[in-house]
Amino acid sequence: MKKRILVTGGLGYIGSHTTVELLARGYEVILADNLSNTRAEVLDGIHSIAGIRPEWLNVDLADPMACREALQGRNLDGIIHFAAFKAVGESVQKPLKYYQNNLFSLMNILDYVKQNPNCGLIFSSSCTVYGQADNLPITENAPVKAAESPYGNTKQIGEEILSEIAHAAKLKTIALRYFNPIGAHASAKIGELPLGVPQNLVPFITQSAAGLRGPLSVYGNDYPTSDGTAIRDYIHVLDLAQAHIIALERLIENGQESPMEVFNLGTGHGSSVLEVIQAFERATGQLLNWTFAPRRAGDIVAAYADTQRATEVLGWTAGKSLDDSMRDAWAWQCALNVAKKDA
Ligand code: UD1
Repeated sequence: MKKRILVTGGLGYIGSHTTVELLARGYEVILADNLSNTRAEVLDGIHSIAGIRPEWLNVDLADPMACREALQGRNLDGIIHFAAFKAVGESVQKPLKYYQNNLFSLMNILDYVKQNPNCGLIFSSSCTVYGQADNLPITENAPVKAAESPYGNTKQIGEEILSEIAHAAKLKTIALRYFNPIGAHASAKIGELPLGVPQNLVPFITQSAAGLRGPLSVYGNDYPTSDGTAIRDYIHVLDLAQAHIIALERLIENGQESPMEVFNLGTGHGSSVLEVIQAFERATGQLLNWTFAPRRAGDIVAAYADTQRATEVLGWTAGKSLDDSMRDAWAWQCALNVAKKDA
């Protein structure tokens, strides 16, 4: 019997890449997505890569009745819960929107899992919970710092809710703390779909190189780093997708050591903004226009993962390089441009 997995936010960036990996490994996948930050055509991309069109539930998971109705009798073996709002700036403007969506949906999913405790649950968390960590690389034991934004707070509170309920009800759960996901599927059929002006570095780079935006502003050149620009751990989205499947298998096989486990997902390697620009130019042959600009409020100096726990416990390491990510992100940007011209 095929294992049946619900992927919430399955038409989103990380959700769509995880879905194609799940399908490739023979899982039955049900998607839940209310298109709040993506498009229905992503399903075509998934279908085209995987050769299977998974069932898609257009449901608002933050609505308890709708969520219960959608999941009732589904006999799920696992849920990967990606669905959440994620724009840091918007969360500062509209905190209630973020708390309502991100926390209610998690609680409604937990309601199902509590009634079906054999169903494993993976929660999308973020390295944002560490803030500016005192020590690098960052281990999972680094203290969680006061959140910089309501978005970050939903991840911290989400982890607390998950931990308390998982322990009380003896559930099978894992929180995965992502560093900076970038790149796209090598087929260029799915990728990131930022709506409006991209706030994240790599989508801005590819849109700028494609002529859709002006020059990149490099925020800050006076950080205490080797070249003065901020450092992050950029991880290819397909490496992330594979980590989710390994984590899911651990839950399905009852391999977890506690009701809630936490893992960092990063490469373990920090890259400065200038190094990202160099990797982009090297991997794509495109020249990028950029200028230095003042630091962006709320940005930290440096973050990169200690990957030891993920390597030793999950047997997972990121396999793709920064150049791979840049090449794939650029191919995706070019495919989007072609689609726009055709439309
Ligand atoms: C951001 C979010 C984080 C989220 C992550 C998802 C903030 C404060 N944090 O992290 O919560 O989990 O995205 O990927 O928004 N940069 C430029 N010019 C640009 C854009 C970015 O120089 O136009 C720099 C930033 O200053 C930073 C680096 O590029 O040093 C990465 O930025 P970004 O991609 O936005 O990710 P984070 O800020 O690390």
